[in-house]
Amino acid sequence: MATEPAEKVLSPVLSAFWDDPTSWTLETYRAHEGYEGLRKALAMKPDDVIAYVKDSGLRGRGGAGFPTGMKWQFIPQGDGKPHYLVVNADESEPGTCKDIPLLFANPHALIEGIVIACHAIRSNHAFIYLRGEVVPVLRRLHAAVREAYEAGYLGKNILGSGLDVELTVHAGAGAYICGEETALLDSLEGRRGQPRLRPPFPAVAGLYACPTVVNNVESIASVPAIIHRGKEWFRSMGSEKSPGFTLYSLSGHVANPGQYEAPLGITLRQLLEISGGMRPGHRLKFWTPGGSSTPLLTDEHLDVPLDYEGVGAAGSMLGTKALQCFDETTCVVRAVTRWTEFYAHESCGKCTPCREGTYWLVQLMRDIEAGKASMADLDKIADIADNINGKSFCALGDGAASPIFSSLKYFREEYERHVTGRGCPFDPAKSTLWA
Ligand code: NAI
Ligand code: SF4
Repeated sequence: MATEPAEKVLSPVLSAFWDDPTSWTLETYRAHEGYEGLRKALAMKPDDVIAYVKDSGLRGRGGAGFPTGMKWQFIPQGDGKPHYLVVNADESEPGTCKDIPLLFANPHALIEGIVIACHAIRSNHAFIYLRGEVVPVLRRLHAAVREAYEAGYLGKNILGSGLDVELTVHAGAGAYICGEETALLDSLEGRRGQPRLRPPFPAVAGLYACPTVVNNVESIASVPAIIHRGKEWFRSMGSEKSPGFTLYSLSGHVANPGQYEAPLGITLRQLLEISGGMRPGHRLKFWTPGGSSTPLLTDEHLDVPLDYEGVGAAGSMLGTKALQCFDETTCVVRAVTRWTEFYAHESCGKCTPCREGTYWLVQLMRDIEAGKASMADLDKIADIADNINGKSFCALGDGAASPIFSSLKYFREEYERHVTGRGCPFDPAKSTLWA
């Protein structure tokens, strides 16, 4: 396939002026038509804004791809309760790294989207739950929120519309499980973050038991451009069921890791072609479409359209579009062991399949990698993963089982070589994962 020029393949919207050193300021944002979407939205009735976002086909960018407008529509009206908008900025899936750069470089796109969403769902208080470790982003976000208050985009009677919105930025304490929406709500309320039973979904009983929309950073930040430039413009990109532009995060053994904003449905082959490919002299062995909780794919899947349907048909999930690429020097057993250790460490302990299962998976994966396991242990890890998957209380359990299943599916022979060869067949000197 001939390489197309990057400008034909990419569609920078959220990342359009990231290279500008002042990209995060209100002045630069306004110079790029910032807050024009809000003016347009405030002239519309709340229900019309919801219908518009629904018609645009925007799907949640946090991983699940749930239609954003439909989620807003679930908020009951005239119920007399406060409504809340909570932005999930607790990005922590291994390999996932799009929301943090977006917040750092273009925080006003999120703030504008928040005010539009609050108008639509009739909310007067929004929260951003940010990963607490990223202090520079926290500082920048606070500065941008201050600018927005001073300019009248937040606070009372926004742009003379009668809409009041207070925005609270909350720093989390670094637990992966607090990215699960109901654990996040518990944490925001001051409790230990552990998932709640769903239903009721947050749209019915969320923060302080009130109707709450929980949306990902990228989802909300995409709304101003949709309102300003139009739903038809948004739908002109991507496919019927997965329209629009999105951020793909390319990482691992690639020549030029980073954020690549493109229409949904682009392929990994195209992204590698325009970004400079794998590191020189190496070839792709396996990759994740959306972080470590999405099943691995291989070099046979380079032409899979990176949208919800395409990746689903290939047996995986689009997830967070975190494209971690591993070359032939990588030991798949080692990589999966690392991820399994992560899930065991981050398991909140509430339910038995995940709490116990991830512990035992780590012990067995370490044994396999060290050459201390038997062939029966390969069936055992598949069996344990099967007892976690779909039987755990929240999606963390399924995420832990996913790399086990997919690595056994595509690389069982490599697992067997660890057993029969009494250890890892990879030369530690050549694998970057041994460091
Ligand atoms: P989900 O599919 O259960 O729910 C998606 C959203 O739709 C939620 O906000 C939920 O409240 C809402 N929803 C679903 N059915 C509903 C209904 N009947 N009524 C009202 N609302 C409804 O997915 P979940 O468990 O929230 O998220 C899993 C995804 O998160 C995975 O696909 C994974 O890719 C992603 N993920 C992202 C991470 C990150 O760092 N960004 C970390 C870990 C996982
Ligand atoms: Fe906690 Fe894991 Fe159960 Fe989720 S699946 S509730 S993280 S123990």
